[in-house]
Amino acid sequence: MAEPQRHEQGIPGDPPSKGARTGHDMAPGAAVIDVAHEAARRAGAIIREGLAQTLQVDYKGEGANDPVTDVDRRSEAAIAGIIRAHFPDHRILSEEGTTGGQDPRWRWIVDPLDGTVNYAHRLPFSCVSIGVEHDGEIVAGVVYNPLAEEIFAAERGKPATLNGAPIHVSATSELRRALLTSAFGPWEAGGRRFDRARALGPHVQALRDLGSAALELCYVAAGRIDGMGGSSLNAWDVAAGMLIVRQAGGQVTDPYGDPFKVDDKSLVVSNGILHGAIMARLHGASEVIPPKDATDQAKDPTDRAKGQAPAGTTPATTTATNTAPTSPPAPARD
Ligand code: IPD
Ligand code: CA
Ligand code: CA
Repeated sequence: MAEPQRHEQGIPGDPPSKGARTGHDMAPGAAVIDVAHEAARRAGAIIREGLAQTLQVDYKGEGANDPVTDVDRRSEAAIAGIIRAHFPDHRILSEEGTTGGQDPRWRWIVDPLDGTVNYAHRLPFSCVSIGVEHDGEIVAGVVYNPLAEEIFAAERGKPATLNGAPIHVSATSELRRALLTSAFGPWEAGGRRFDRARALGPHVQALRDLGSAALELCYVAAGRIDGMGGSSLNAWDVAAGMLIVRQAGGQVTDPYGDPFKVDDKSLVVSNGILHGAIMARLHGASEVIPPKDATDQAKDPTDRAKGQAPAGTTPATTTATNTAPTSPPAPARD
């Protein structure tokens, strides 16, 4: 790999510094949003090509039923290489364990392939998600679904876009007309995700679980769905999408109505109009959302961690299952 070059760090929202380009051929002084686009496009090409190839599928996490493919790893390596080439000092938090520099002000939060279960089953609803945090605030986000050729993006203080055109959340005002999705982790104890589905299901037009939290956030941003809820999430699932949906006029809170922070585990997302109605249904049903005082760091004692390795380490995986996603180990209890 070429020797990393040190560039000025354009802050999204600021005018590009001298020499920066708004396209994808990187120049000295490139803004982080341009680098995020470049990395997402490179990763997207890997994801698109990988779908036509035989996949190497391993299993990780609690219950050893969380798939990770060779495409997840190759995507992550490509993204990290691009980030390091432009910003060697910036920290990287990426799902499969790749790290970056030490600068405490900057953190790239990367999901190299969100929707891996879909992908491993050849269900074409997956993406790459890249969020950039500066001084504790997400300032840029790019989510790319290469299977639909859709790039969602946002910078702090600017409208969210889909393939460059501004997007906005829906105007749906009645819960019974709302299409909601859920991104609840697979290992929640006590079937609480079903309790949540029961609390909302009868009152909405439809409730779905699409399998990619990052894309679902973007779909709320684009007005395709009216809201979503999620739990057992990690920063890489939501960093880019939470900015995109907020910049599209949406609302993102924790299950108690407080502003969602990137390291929180559970969220409620809506077009804003429906937020109160969704929260009322969730809190109106007993035991669906436990009292805030009774919660742990995950803000939900029933959300069991997914067994992710800490940042910078390599997550444990079980024996590789070759090729297609056949015969995974027995699923953990919901
Ligand atoms: C998963 C997806 C899914 C959500 C899970 C995530 P992955 O990410 O975002 O929608 O429900 O909790 O882990 O594993 O496909 O990157
Ligand atoms: Ca993910
Ligand atoms: Ca992932």
